[in-house]
Amino acid sequence: MAEIRTIEPAEHGWRGTVEIPGDKSISHRSVMFAGLGNTPVHIRNFLHAADCLSTVGVMRALGVDVKFLNENELIVTGNGLHGLSEPMSVLDAGNSGTTLRLMMGLLAPQPFLSVFSGDASLTRRPMGRVLRPLSEMGARIFGRSGNNNLPLAIVPTEGKLHGIRYESPVASAQVKSAILLAGLYADAPTTVTEPYVSRDHTEQMLAGFGVRMERSGTSVTVFPVEESGYRAPDEITVPGDISSAAYFLVAGSIMKGSRLLLKNVGVNPTRTGILDVLAEMGAHITLQNERTSGGERIADIAVAAASLHGVSFGAEIMPRLIDEIPVLAVAALFAEGDTVITGAGELRVKETDRLRAIATEFQKLAPGSIEEREDGLVIHGNAKIARAQVKSYGDHRMAMSLAVLGAAADGVLIEESDSVHISYPTFFSEIERLS
Ligand code: S3P
Repeated sequence: MAEIRTIEPAEHGWRGTVEIPGDKSISHRSVMFAGLGNTPVHIRNFLHAADCLSTVGVMRALGVDVKFLNENELIVTGNGLHGLSEPMSVLDAGNSGTTLRLMMGLLAPQPFLSVFSGDASLTRRPMGRVLRPLSEMGARIFGRSGNNNLPLAIVPTEGKLHGIRYESPVASAQVKSAILLAGLYADAPTTVTEPYVSRDHTEQMLAGFGVRMERSGTSVTVFPVEESGYRAPDEITVPGDISSAAYFLVAGSIMKGSRLLLKNVGVNPTRTGILDVLAEMGAHITLQNERTSGGERIADIAVAAASLHGVSFGAEIMPRLIDEIPVLAVAALFAEGDTVITGAGELRVKETDRLRAIATEFQKLAPGSIEEREDGLVIHGNAKIARAQVKSYGDHRMAMSLAVLGAAADGVLIEESDSVHISYPTFFSEIERLS
């Protein structure tokens, strides 16, 4: 229960400009994909946070050279598509599902053994969803509890993996990306179909490395690539993370007197569900200076306080705002009327069971205002909110959402608040500066 942090009410709202830190998903991928090339790649605006550093640690253990020029800038030099080397010890994915799941896809076709461990949270999360399709391709992966949990061992196969057509039961970018990465090394093209399109950074970025990718509706096909066809770019600039901007989008909307400008935010349409939902709730949010950088759309986002009203949303939009549910639940508490969230069962297998965590902890601040459902939440707006001590369950997105909730109401004491180091190490110093 280390690190109880007290957040005081922000009486005049939050005002100012926030440089949003680099996108977590793109930071992971930039190091992984650059590490498969054989020329140096200069990565800028890298997210220097625990999750992405787990990926750096794993790539280094596989023989990739990673040099930090400063916290957010690094040079990654790989040894080619077939140049990863057998790690000397167990690979540690830490708290990071993205590291573990994407690396499972990348390591399944390699001619050496790798073994993964991770922290207590990651050790509870389901890996069968990745292991099963990779096994269909011919991969040999073994894990605890019937091949579903860490620790996991990835054993080399005799021949190449096989290209498959896979209909994924979940809209998950981690599952999709693992299969596409294995598909780079397969004997034929591989197609993944999802119920709804999840974040498409893997397909966009791999196309930038010369990999042939084809999209059709909710399906995407990767074509196996030759060593000579895989060309790393000289530079990658990571856009700001809309999932980190989310805390300010909501705080700026619900706290009277707020006026914020969020700089360099990635607005890839597979990630902007929060903008759509907040707009429907009546938020005052405008995109400025829209531009494209390295194939990704970015913008500065202005937000000012507004009167929100409740909304309903479900499965279809879920992949586009999957990490923003905790903070959208905060917005809903301050809205007029009820907000009904359905199709959110995936939240039960995130860093913690976020539906349970939101219902339990928000309730301590706003008794009677949240109902937990099997696959969602019902949140009664205009909630009466008091000061309380709450748990983050070591989940970074719970900690930041609870901080916004407390700042907008009567303050809050947050247990294990240091979990913000997973995706936003400077979060608490930023909010102090703004209030
Ligand atoms: C991510 C995909 C999402 C998201 C996670 C990052 C990625 O997970 O929740 O924070 O970088 O691919 P799922 O694929 O499990 O939905």
